[in-house]
Amino acid sequence: MTTTNVALLGFGNVGRAFVRLLAEKRASLAGRDGLDLRLKAVLCARGGILAGEGEDVPDLAGADREGLAGHPRFERGLNPGAVLRRLKPGVFAECISSPPETGEPALGHLREALSRGWHAVTADKGPLAADAGGLREAARAAGTGFRFSAATGAALPAADIALFSLAGAEIESIQGILNGTTNFVLTRMGRGESYEEALAAARRLGIAEPDPTRDVEGLDAAVKLLILSNLVFGESRQIGDVRVRGLSAATADEARRAAAAGRKIKLLASAVRRGGRTELSVEPAVLDAGHPLFGVDGAEKGVTFFTDTMGAVTVSGGKSDPRGAAAAMLKDIILLLGSRRP
Ligand SMILES: NC(=O)c1ccc[n+]([C@@H]2O[C@H](COP(=O)([O-])OP(=O)(O)OC[C@H]3O[C@@H](n4cnc5c(N)ncnc54)[C@H](OP(=O)(O)O)[C@@H]3O)[C@@H](O)[C@H]2O)c1
Repeated sequence: MTTTNVALLGFGNVGRAFVRLLAEKRASLAGRDGLDLRLKAVLCARGGILAGEGEDVPDLAGADREGLAGHPRFERGLNPGAVLRRLKPGVFAECISSPPETGEPALGHLREALSRGWHAVTADKGPLAADAGGLREAARAAGTGFRFSAATGAALPAADIALFSLAGAEIESIQGILNGTTNFVLTRMGRGESYEEALAAARRLGIAEPDPTRDVEGLDAAVKLLILSNLVFGESRQIGDVRVRGLSAATADEARRAAAAGRKIKLLASAVRRGGRTELSVEPAVLDAGHPLFGVDGAEKGVTFFTDTMGAVTVSGGKSDPRGAAAAMLKDIILLLGSRRP
């Protein structure tokens, strides 16, 4: 059995789901994967709890954000640097929100964790959009591992398909439906609803964020595309390199016209290799029934990799909520710790 320390940064929706999942999966992790994951630190923006020698953090499975901050063991001002210095290196699991332009503060914390010999996993798109290549390089230099499945569509295993299942093939282009909210809205508009009606339904069903601006403007899909594309094509493009056009009121008419012709409008994220460089775009596009992503409807997401030797390979689905994201972080940890090999 391998015993590994886990330090968690972020105790919001994803962080709490991750804590619950660790408790729920303890027996199967031990039995099937030979892993004993010890949760030694949980941190939020205000401080956190660091377990002492020979103990785990107290049971937080039922706690909300304020429950953590109000816990008698909570140390105000405790920061990731102190935790990373004080514990024996294991896995640093990061799930805060950082902007894609700078990636901070997560970028600095991830760099520090890797340089101190920790493996790292993240669900946070910000540090990946800013410098995923640098983080992967830092992990290689330190002899540790760095994975970020949850950042490219929660439980949708897009990055893993590209990295492992298509090994040896040349990926020539990527097309994806990478945002569930916009896909839901477009699906409803194709059935005759207005933009406002469809967005209101997405809000009612808890699919759309309280402020869905980043989704409907195409920015969330653009960041996910950028992360996937940089990973697949080994580039370090920045968010400003993605041509982005989101949904607008006019899209409702387009969606209705497309439906009448047996087609669908999708917010299509594309990365296409041209002349040794990748062209990146996110915009509404008309798909006909033969397109591999035609059937990806509602809040579902999907991605197709077009390759030279394996044809077009599509993956779709995967839970797109905090539990799905936490499960993708756990998968990354299992894969990093090496208990499953082909
Ligand atoms: N929600 C999903 O379904 C989902 C799916 C895939 C990926 N993600 C990504 O996962 C990440 C977390 O999402 P979430 O929904 O859990 O967010 P959230 O509910 O807003 O929680 C954010 C957490 O990060 C902490 N935090 C914020 N700024 C911090 C800082 N500077 N230093 C340390 N901690 C800080 C907050 O601390 P306080 O409690 O003190 O404010 C809070 O615990 C995001 O990057 C998101 O894009 C989310």
